[in-house]
Amino acid sequence: MRNNENEEKSGSGAGRVAFLDGRGEMPMLQVITPWSTSEIYLQGAHVTHFKKKDEPPLLFLSQCSRFEEGQPIRGGIPVVFPWFGPREGLNQHGFARLKNWELKEFAPASDGSVSVRFRLPDYPEASTFLPFTADYIVTVSNILKLELVVTNKSETEEFVFENCLHTYFEVGDINKIFISGLKGVRYLDKVENFLEKTETEEMLRIRSEVDRIYLNTADPVEIVDQSLNRKIRIEKQASLSTVVWNPWIAKAQQMPDFGNEEFERMVCVESGNVAANQIRLPPKESSHLTLMLSSGKL
Ligand code: BG6
Repeated sequence: MRNNENEEKSGSGAGRVAFLDGRGEMPMLQVITPWSTSEIYLQGAHVTHFKKKDEPPLLFLSQCSRFEEGQPIRGGIPVVFPWFGPREGLNQHGFARLKNWELKEFAPASDGSVSVRFRLPDYPEASTFLPFTADYIVTVSNILKLELVVTNKSETEEFVFENCLHTYFEVGDINKIFISGLKGVRYLDKVENFLEKTETEEMLRIRSEVDRIYLNTADPVEIVDQSLNRKIRIEKQASLSTVVWNPWIAKAQQMPDFGNEEFERMVCVESGNVAANQIRLPPKESSHLTLMLSSGKL
């Protein structure tokens, strides 16, 4: 990794940003604040790392991830937009995670936090959609805050899309975690061909492949991790869907960019608006998907 000292900037507080060659020589930003460090690749505006000083990393990143242009990174926070899941003849989870985003500004604040804003340039893939802009603001402090702002530039037509911040969390042992905040919520069970069900568990445990789209829920979700002695809190705004995913053994073995045993150390609890919660954005309006990820000891 090369650190270009000339491009390093310090703010009036203690937060700072450095431009580095990341893995696969792909450009990335390293953000350092008094509480935490983070790494963000320009491809996909992809946050691959966030770690508070006194904690293990918050985000899981696969040891087998590709770091190649046009290939998704396995772990961290892929930005899923403008569609979620497969689409005939097109890449799964949209094109935003595969494209280089432009760095528009970064702002170390006097309180020590650092905000970085990216914009998705006009790629040919976007031209089949209405004119829109997509901005992504990552704020690093003692928490990680993410905002995906999509603006419909059309004067007359709705922009219909899905969005999802596909957060991969690092856990100590999948057998020793539970997820709360989803009891009573309707979900589509992708493992059973999208069968519609209702969550009955107060404390959801994962003991096999889980791939669920929870609908019409704006509530915060918590991951209680007994082996890392940590609680992760996921608070969201302008998000009605929560997706929970762990590939478990057989799927893990089929994924070339994921270690066979890595399913034990991760869980995805994703926030966005997908399936029946897709967004119909009126002309000239913006949607602001916002996520606040915080953590602390149990
Ligand atoms: C989840 C989906 O959001 O992402 C799963 O619900 C999918 O079905 C997973 O397998 C990973 O997707 P990808 O394209 O990054 O392998």
